[in-house]
This record gives sequence, structure tokens and C-alpha cells, in this order.
Amino acid sequence: MDPRVVGQCSAWSDVEAIAGANALDALDGPVETASALPNACYTSAAWQKLEFERLFARSWFVVGFVQDVPEPGDAMPVEPFGTPLLVLRDLDGGIRVFHNVCPHRRTVLVTGKRSGLRELAGPCHGWSYDLDGSLRDSPHVDCGSPHDDAPGLVPVRSEVWHHWIFVNLDGKAQALEDYLAPATDLVRGYDLGATRYAGTAHFEIAANWKLALENYIEPYHVFSAHPRLHDFVSMSERMPSRIDRHVMWNRYDFGIPEPGRGEGLPYFPNLSVEAARQVVWFILPTAFGVEFHPDHVASFHLAPVAPDRCRERIDVYVVGDAATSPDWAEGRQATLDMWDELNHEDIGLIESMQRGRTSPAYDGGSLSAYWDEAPLHLNRMVVEGMR
Ligand SMILES: [Fe+2]
Repeated sequence: MDPRVVGQCSAWSDVEAIAGANALDALDGPVETASALPNACYTSAAWQKLEFERLFARSWFVVGFVQDVPEPGDAMPVEPFGTPLLVLRDLDGGIRVFHNVCPHRRTVLVTGKRSGLRELAGPCHGWSYDLDGSLRDSPHVDCGSPHDDAPGLVPVRSEVWHHWIFVNLDGKAQALEDYLAPATDLVRGYDLGATRYAGTAHFEIAANWKLALENYIEPYHVFSAHPRLHDFVSMSERMPSRIDRHVMWNRYDFGIPEPGRGEGLPYFPNLSVEAARQVVWFILPTAFGVEFHPDHVASFHLAPVAPDRCRERIDVYVVGDAATSPDWAEGRQATLDMWDELNHEDIGLIESMQRGRTSPAYDGGSLSAYWDEAPLHLNRMVVEGMR
């Protein structure tokens, strides 16, 4: 791995030392006898650093959203795991990601969301860069002559999948198309190209990011945590989440639509009869998921902040002009309200799980043989990604 990218890469022995080799072995085998990740994987700053270096940096993860840089010259700094990156739209309309650091004295280049940029200028010595990252000018170097040998900005490998900007920091991961294939195969019937951004709900969660993602992929808690969702589709009509390689997914059928769930917004074009009464969702091991309803799609993005803290955003996209038209405002609001209500029902539980992870009385976790194969698989995928 390029040391400029994520610093010195740690060894697998560090992963084993924190989690314990026995605990990692306990992830294997049938779910009836397996154990989930031990507490240290939810409380240790050293573990989270390893997750970044070994899981996220070597895979694909979402750093931004296309709607955040809609126009040429728009730029937005982001800091996944504290690493300064810059997402921008260049003057040709392409989205690029760079390390947000001036090559001269390593100052952070852009510190706030910007628009209308024609160039990027370092705050300290005025070195400037074109929006393709190449050095434009380095004033007063060699008494004012151009600094031909000076490097430009360090680009980050990035790809856009519809509304979501993915990066692969070490540049060596499989093609994004291949990485997403288990998910894109699942949702091929939805015309994502027909959707536009409708709104975002933000959440601060006092819990490890994995607890939020595990919770999202297991429907076992619906009957106790989500009364309205349980009225919509009860436990007897739900199935445990499924696994396809590194992707975990689920699906349910519903009978009668309600506001926020299939009522109040236009449906995807050319949707099958089955999909018009269905919800399907998937997660990736790198803290991201997408849920498809017949009338909208919602993405779940988790930004780890500390072992016991993450930021979550749910972005909602709807079909065509319904994203902005006043005629559909009520449906949009009902959908955002539904997500806000549902997620607040989860956050207390997730934060309680985090507090429980500090107890010396329990480690790992007992798993339901019927419901918990997918959360266990997520644990395994995190560790596999760190191997
Ligand atoms: Fe939930």
C-alpha cells in the first residue's frame, strides 16, 4: 500500500492481538455454535484504526454524494477516519477525489464546502492547482520562476455509482462494478437513473458503526422496536437476511401501501408487479446500504468517528420531478418523516448495545440460529477484509 495514502500499514498479527485469535476462530462454523465479534472490536481505537487501514482503505467505500457537488467548480472536503480528502466536480463536469493536502507544506487545502472554483489555492504559500489536480502556480519559488518539478495533488481512485461517490484508497481493489455486482444484480428491476435527490436526515449515534449496520440488516428486532413497521409487515411475513458473497440483503412483500412506504410518490418506471408491493435492501461491509421501495430509494451511510461514535445519514431519492415539485411535497415529507421516525426507534437500542459492550460479564454475543446468519456474516466480512 502506498505509504502516502494511509500511513504505515499494520500487520494481521495486530488484528489478532486485539480481537484474540480464539475470538476470531469463534466466528467460523455454524451460526448455532459461532460467536460474534468480541467487545474490543467495538471499543478499541486501535481496532478502528486497523479497520480503516485494512478493510476500508483496501476496498470501496462511499465518501460523498453526487448531489453535494452538483455544478462544475463545486468542492467538498470530507474526512473519513480523519483522513482529509476533497471531492470536487471539475470544469468538464467529472467528479474527482484528491487527498486534500497541499504537497508543499502539507496544509489542508480546502476547509469548507465551496462553489464556483476555477482553481484550488493553498492557504499558506499560495500554490495553486487546476481542478484536475495539476500544479498551476507556485509563486516566489526560485525567485518567481515556475516550479516545474513540483507535484500536483495526489488523486484518489474513485468511481460514481448513480448518487454515490466511492473511493478505493490503495488503488488495488477489484473494479467497483464487480464489487457491487451482488447488489446490482439484486436490484436490476429499479431504474436508478430515473431518481433524483429529495432530502437527507442526519443522525449522531453514540455507538460503533458496526452495531448500526448489524441492526439494519437483521429484522429480528422489528416486532419490539418498530410498532408501525410491524403493523405494515409482521414477523411472520419476514425472512432472515440472505448472503451473497460480501453483500447481505433482505426483502419483504407488503399488501397495502402507506405514507412513506409506497403511497404519496410516483413509482419507478416499468416496475414489475411484484416489485410494486415489495421492499428490498442490501448492505456492504464498508458501512453503506441502500433500500428500495416502489416509490423511492434510501441510502444509509455511516461515518465512523470514534470506536463508540458514528454519524449516519439517510439520503432519499425519488422518481423524476417528484424530487422537487411542490405537487409531491407531502409525499416527500412523509417519506423523510418515516425514515426519521424509524431510525430514532433504532438509535436508543444501538447505543444501549454499545454500552453493553463495555461489560466484563459478556463478550462476543449469542446468536439466533434463524435470524443472525447475516449479522455474523458481516462480522466475518469485516475480519476477512482485514486479513
Ligand atoms: Fe430497526
